[in-house]
Amino acid sequence: RDALARHLPGSEVIVVANREPYIHERRDGVLRVQHPASGLVTALEPVVQATGGTWIAHGSGAADREVVDRHARVRVPPDDPAYTLRRVWLTAAEEEGYYYGFSNEGLWPLCHVAHTRPTFRGGDFAAYRDANRKFADAVCEEANGPDPVVLVQDYHFALLPRMIRERLPRATIITFWHIPWPNSERFGICPWGPEILEGMLGSSILGFHVQAHCNNFLDSVDRYLEARLDRERQSVVLGGQETLIRAYPISIDWPTRWAADAPAAPLCRERVFADLGLAPDALLGVGIDRLDYTKGIEERLLAVERLLERFPQFRGRFTFAQLAAPSRTRIPRYQELNRNVEEVARRVNERFGEGDYRPIVLLREHHEPPTVFRYYRAADLCYVSSLHDGMNLVAKEFVAARDDEAGVLVLSRFTGASRELGEALLVNPYDLEEASSALAAALAMPREEQRERMRALRTFVSEFNVYRWAGRMLVDAGRLRKRDRVSGRIT
Ligand code: G6P
Repeated sequence: RDALARHLPGSEVIVVANREPYIHERRDGVLRVQHPASGLVTALEPVVQATGGTWIAHGSGAADREVVDRHARVRVPPDDPAYTLRRVWLTAAEEEGYYYGFSNEGLWPLCHVAHTRPTFRGGDFAAYRDANRKFADAVCEEANGPDPVVLVQDYHFALLPRMIRERLPRATIITFWHIPWPNSERFGICPWGPEILEGMLGSSILGFHVQAHCNNFLDSVDRYLEARLDRERQSVVLGGQETLIRAYPISIDWPTRWAADAPAAPLCRERVFADLGLAPDALLGVGIDRLDYTKGIEERLLAVERLLERFPQFRGRFTFAQLAAPSRTRIPRYQELNRNVEEVARRVNERFGEGDYRPIVLLREHHEPPTVFRYYRAADLCYVSSLHDGMNLVAKEFVAARDDEAGVLVLSRFTGASRELGEALLVNPYDLEEASSALAAALAMPREEQRERMRALRTFVSEFNVYRWAGRMLVDAGRLRKRDRVSGRIT
């Protein structure tokens, strides 16, 4: 809020993100609010609570229409309203082509090196373009003046920045791409590559988590567009308009609301151990993810299997609980993943289970944040094994949850987070020897070493929290705005 007031005085903030922060559902006649499993929402929501303004999202909940006014608006959070949630309604066909199709069968596998082939269908891209236009309409409806600050979020909206720029030329548009950007050769297989690049270059600032993704983006522009590129300044000028390309590593709020509300670690451990039927001297590992093929969940369970093969002392004693929120379930690749994960868990449990003991507990359902934080606090280790991940906020949430300075984070090198969280045990999740050794080391780690590592991790995340992420972008946007005013581009 300070950064906004100081650097962009009097500005209104409009956020566009496909996923809505509150999903309204009616179950057994009772209206309930669900917090979706989305790193984007985890990061952004506290920021928008602080800045106020409007969040425009796809209305996806069964009861979403019940709670809005005639402009599809509702004030949220429901118990202490701080900003407006504006819902955009998509038809089933639009959702199919834009969300399931081009966003999640095209761009998602294109941007993640996780060996799932992107599928490109012309009809999906047409729906994607139409949906982006619908959101552009909503931005123009929500804007009170000619120069709002618009924060465009993620790969669902590559075409949106240009559409907004054409209608609100004085807007400050900050686009943040929450997933990796592929190298230029890989990007070249997308049939609509140039249109996507041009769309994104409607932004004033374009942010990625890490510098490597900025470099990949600049390479893609260099290869596929006629634009003026300044590598040193990290800027691209297209049609007389400049876009700055910058790395802004995302984070979580600190102190994290859910950690503050959760019971202390020993109580969480007691409760989770009771739920899972574990003995007091058992050891617990946790994995928390959407059920997504980029998260390396199969590799994670194979690492647990390898651990039990190589280190018999953990048989009968170590349990790995995988909380997996079903995600994008209409896409065949996600259905296949679900079957594979189930199969690996069954096999490992058959091999190493005995009596009541099951080494792997698979909980495939949506869990609300209080449950997730209970598991973080109950665990001896958390294993984040993504095959490729822009940042990964589960790693940072685990750190935020551990105010007892205990527990060990085992983290894939292929996450953006691994570049910041060097005190975690870093592994290549494909290398089951390395991963199982790290799990064993985590389980045997002396308390003092756990404390040292966790303290350093907590210091880092508390300092580089999501307010700093947003603040840095707003400061940069403020500078641009000032420069454009001075040069007469904005009056
Ligand atoms: C990733 C994406 C987000 C998305 C989230 C959950 O974190 O970067 O944009 O919201 O996954 O996926 P979903 O498809 O359920 O929104």
